[in-house]
Amino acid sequence: MGVDDSYQTRFSPRHLLGIEGLSPDQITVFLNKSENYVEQNRRVDKATQLLHGRTIINLFYEDSTRTLTSFELAGKRLGGDLINMNVDTSSVKKGETLIDTAMTLNAMHPDILVVRHPHAGAAKLLSEKVNCAVINGGDGNHEHPTQALLDALTIRRRLGGLSGLTVAICGDILHSRVAKSNIHLLLTMGARVRVIAPKTLIPPAAERLGVEVFHCMEDGLKDCDIVMMLRLQRERMTRNFFPSIREYFRYFGLDYNKLSHAKPDALIMHPGPMNRGVEIDTEVADDVGRSVIREQVEMGVAVRMACLDLLTINLDSGERRA
Ligand code: NCD
Repeated sequence: MGVDDSYQTRFSPRHLLGIEGLSPDQITVFLNKSENYVEQNRRVDKATQLLHGRTIINLFYEDSTRTLTSFELAGKRLGGDLINMNVDTSSVKKGETLIDTAMTLNAMHPDILVVRHPHAGAAKLLSEKVNCAVINGGDGNHEHPTQALLDALTIRRRLGGLSGLTVAICGDILHSRVAKSNIHLLLTMGARVRVIAPKTLIPPAAERLGVEVFHCMEDGLKDCDIVMMLRLQRERMTRNFFPSIREYFRYFGLDYNKLSHAKPDALIMHPGPMNRGVEIDTEVADDVGRSVIREQVEMGVAVRMACLDLLTINLDSGERRA
C-alpha cells in the first residue's frame, strides 16, 4: 500500500476521538496501516519494538472484552509498556472525577490514553486536559471510532472496497456508538447506509445524517451487501423501548428468512457482544459462509496497532504540548 511517513504524518490526527470529521484520505491511511498488522498478527513471532519506551494506559469506565483486550495486545505486540487501570479498585471508587484521575495519570507521562466512558464527550474533554494522545474506546452513545475502522477493514478485505456498497445497520441505533461511527465512516467512503429499527430505537432526525430509515427488516434488507446487527443496549435504556424480547426477535432479529431479502452473498456482521436469540439467530451468527463476526475481532487487533502506531508518529513530529 506503500504510504510514506510524511503522508502518514500529514493525515494522522493528534487524537482519535471520532470518525466524524475525518477525511477519506485519513480513513484510508488508518486502513492501509492496519493491513500490515494483519499479516504481522498471523506470524508465529508477532512482536516488534516500534513502541519501545512508550507508555499506553487503558482507562475503561465501562465493561469491555474485545476493545480492552485488543488494545492491550496491540500495545504489547508493538513493544510498548501498557497498563490497564482497573477503575473498580482505583480512587474513582472514592469519588475522584474523570478529570482528576486523568490529570493524575497525565503526571506519570503516558504517551497514549485509551478511554472508554459512559458519557458522550468524555474522550474529547480528556483530550483538552492531558498532554498525551487520546483514543476514544467508546463514549456513551456517541462514537466508537476503532470499531468502525475494524468493520471497514473487514468489509474492504472481503469485498475489495467500500464505495458503492449498500450497508444495513439493524437494531438499537438510538443507543449505539458503533452505529454512529459506522454511519460517518461508510458515508464518507461512498457507501449507502440504511438503518432498520423500531421507531423508538431510531434517533430523532436520523435522515439528516444521510441514511435511509426503515422500520421493516424485509424492506430494509432488500439487496444489501452487508447486514450489520446491533445489541439492544439495555444499560442505556431509561424506559421500555419495545414490548418484549420475543416480539423484538420476531420482527427485528436476523434469521434466514429475513436474510433471504439481502443479496445472496451478503455478509453478516456484529460488533459483539451478541445476544443470541434476541437480535440474531444462533445459526445465522455461526454461519461460516456468511458471518464475519470472528474476522471482525481479528481485525480489531490490527486496527488498534495501526492507531497506536499512527498517533505516536505525531507525538514524534513535535506536536506534543509542553
Ligand atoms: C460495542 C460497544 O461497547 O459499544 N462493543 C464493542 O466494543 N465491541 C457494542 C456493544 O456493547 O453492544
